[in-house]
Amino acid sequence: MKKRLILYAGKYKTTKECAQLLADKFYEHVKLCSIADVQSVSLQDYDQIIFGASIYESRISRKMSQWIKKHQNHLLHKEIGIFLCAYHDEKCGLYMKLNFPIEILEHAKVEMCFGAHLDYSTMSWLDRFLMKLIQFFDQEEIVTKVYKERIHYFAREMAKGEEIYE
Ligand SMILES: Cc1cc2nc3c(=O)[nH]c(=O)nc-3n(C[C@H](O)[C@H](O)[C@H](O)COP(=O)(O)O)c2cc1C
Repeated sequence: MKKRLILYAGKYKTTKECAQLLADKFYEHVKLCSIADVQSVSLQDYDQIIFGASIYESRISRKMSQWIKKHQNHLLHKEIGIFLCAYHDEKCGLYMKLNFPIEILEHAKVEMCFGAHLDYSTMSWLDRFLMKLIQFFDQEEIVTKVYKERIHYFAREMAKGEEIYE
């Protein structure tokens, strides 16, 4: 059975929760790690690396981008999957191109957007303010939803040939 690392970078809870839902699909050998704790990761311990990142003003966490660039050569010898948490589902492809090296994208087995969640009660005042501005200027309704069926599909693609929890 493959050994998997899910490395996630979010600001609030969505990305971590999606990473956990994804981890729960695999039978064993899966480790969840926040980008904040990435120094404890030994890449040689894993066959698959799954990146999960939330999007803020079109960008993922800088720490995650820098880490991926630094370890790119090593990562290209692993199986890779990428999921994003973002409310602009239709911009998922654009966000991938903006935030991940092309070699990593071409190498990835699966790239998907799992949707988004906005919890105004836990948000910083600055993020609440930015969201108000975005909603005012975008003039479109922002739909927030986490698509659990996509998490399931993602797990199945990453675990081809293995069983997963249905
Ligand atoms: C200030 C702010 C800016 C955001 N910018 C974007 C954006 O540019 N594109 C997008 O699709 N979603 C954007 N989002 C939505 C977040 O990506 C979404 O809420 C995600 O679920 C957050 O994940 P987290 O809880 O793990 O931080 C933004 C959210 C906030 C609060």
